[in-house]
Amino acid sequence: KKSVNETDRIISNESQKVLPHCIIVGVRKCGTRALLEFLDIHPQITKVINEIHFFDDEKHYNLGLEWYRQQMPAIPINQSNIVIEKTPAYFVTESVPERIYAMNASIKIILIVREPVVRLISDYAQLASNRMKGGGGQRRIETFEESVLYPNGKVNSSYKGIRISMYAVYFSRWIKLFSKNQIHVVDGDQFVYDPLPELKKIETFLGLPHLIGHDDFIYNVTKGFYCIRLADNQEKCLNKNKGRRHPDINPVIIKRLRKFYEPYNKFFFSLVGRSFNWPN
Ligand code: A3P
Repeated sequence: KKSVNETDRIISNESQKVLPHCIIVGVRKCGTRALLEFLDIHPQITKVINEIHFFDDEKHYNLGLEWYRQQMPAIPINQSNIVIEKTPAYFVTESVPERIYAMNASIKIILIVREPVVRLISDYAQLASNRMKGGGGQRRIETFEESVLYPNGKVNSSYKGIRISMYAVYFSRWIKLFSKNQIHVVDGDQFVYDPLPELKKIETFLGLPHLIGHDDFIYNVTKGFYCIRLADNQEKCLNKNKGRRHPDINPVIIKRLRKFYEPYNKFFFSLVGRSFNWPN
């Protein structure tokens, strides 16, 4: 007799676990959580709640695809639900594109980007806040300026935060394997400002009917972000750790960083085949 438990492919007569149809691969601090939560409003989309870190973490990858599938949520059988996983570390980890390609060469990939310097500041704000929470002994937390610039004032291009915003460097690895119409790039700055148009483009990309609408959102003035409108007119916003206060940065440094990113941005635009409204 066939046992019906979590490890079976078919969990019950109604639901099953399948490998994801779509992965949000990054970029970290560009709104990946908000994007996943907002997409999950769609009745035919099921999100993977946690970041699985399957393709970027050897310890997980060595457990094999069957382990990965087990981490997926159960979806109804006989319905065209789309399962979306998001792990922003995938975008920048060298081994990941070919591993995803080996799993499913026609998978759909979503990348959300923000203006590189905004992303960098957000990344720094997260790091600083984690250090404070972690105690970090008595060690002083480096200022933003100390982190991103060398003492001689040159941009420290070996700093991780600086590197992750060089989108072209990583994006070029992905397009070596995946066709451009398999990768959808979301404008993360537009998405903060007005999420719906960006979500509609993704519905189209995924071949889904447009079922996410204006009424699904409420703008929360205190938070300064859109939140999800629940059935009883309550709202569900992202956690406090999304939408942090950013440190005030000297405009001269911002300008220097923007100059630094200019060639990377141009290269990225040429690879994506569109440009973004990022100031120089
Ligand atoms: P900040 O906290 O620096 O403002 P990720 O989920 O990839 O870590 O991205 C976090 C960023 O998502 C936040 O960075 C915030 O700017 C952005 N974001 C976009 N839409 C949001 C929303 N509706 N609510 C909260 N944060 C949102």
